[in-house]
Amino acid sequence: MTSRRRFLLTTLTFALVTPWRTGRGAQASKHMRIGVIGSGRIGGTLGGLWAKAGHEVMFSDRDIERAKRAAQAAGSNARVGTSSDTVAFADVVLIAVPYSALPTLAKELAPGLKGKVMIDPNNPIPQRDGDMALGPREKGAAVSTAAMFPGVASLRAFNAIGYATLQSEAHRAPPKLAVPVAADDPGALKLGMQLVADAGFEPVHVGTLAQSRIFDLGAPGAGAHSASELRKILGR
Ligand SMILES: NC(=O)c1ccc[n+]([C@@H]2O[C@H](COP(=O)([O-])OP(=O)(O)OC[C@H]3O[C@@H](n4cnc5c(N)ncnc54)[C@H](OP(=O)(O)O)[C@@H]3O)[C@@H](O)[C@H]2O)c1
Repeated sequence: MTSRRRFLLTTLTFALVTPWRTGRGAQASKHMRIGVIGSGRIGGTLGGLWAKAGHEVMFSDRDIERAKRAAQAAGSNARVGTSSDTVAFADVVLIAVPYSALPTLAKELAPGLKGKVMIDPNNPIPQRDGDMALGPREKGAAVSTAAMFPGVASLRAFNAIGYATLQSEAHRAPPKLAVPVAADDPGALKLGMQLVADAGFEPVHVGTLAQSRIFDLGAPGAGAHSASELRKILGR
């Protein structure tokens, strides 16, 4: 083999097998292991899109039958587990539950999520979540969720668009639907941008978790936009 061919082969092999790393050391290969905690409308929709994109997805839910339905709809790349099975299985975990459920879930799951990436689409809504939603609405949802999960690299995404729109507009003909994304951890950001694209949307990097307030529910960056419309709204 010539040295040029050996170089190309080595480079290709490296590109195929080298995992992404978060700043805290979590890893994800090209086909990731994704955990879904809360297999409702958002969890079921996104888990299904990722399974269809070739990722391995484990669904969990307090109601195992709900997780089974989500896994069945997602196809052969999907399976079901308990929440602790799901955390152990996954490189990256989507937690999609009512905001008021997060503090208890965080106590249970944060230790196992250390060094992994958590995707946070959760919106604090006082009418649903009660007074506990008021602080996060004031401070910003992403930083409030991240504070409950110390040591976990958090990615804010998928909070700003309804699940039915995510389901119907995934992989649409250009212009793709834009999904705003924010993270403090560069590895989580890279992984999240990839997962947004794999789900069939155009990721638009907005900035840090603190800066994600611009696409909190009710803020100008929330809603269904193309990437160019969203960048105009964000002033980019
Ligand atoms: N719906 C949307 O279009 C949309 C869009 C963007 C963001 N979001 C946000 O995404 C999150 C999930 O919304 P969703 O519409 O997917 O809700 P959903 O369809 O009602 O599903 C909620 C999931 O959370 C679980 N859950 C409820 N209470 C729980 C608790 N105390 N502990 C553990 N799990 C609990 C439910 O499990 P059980 O089966 O056990 O009840 C269910 O799997 C919310 O924070 C929402 O604001 C929603």
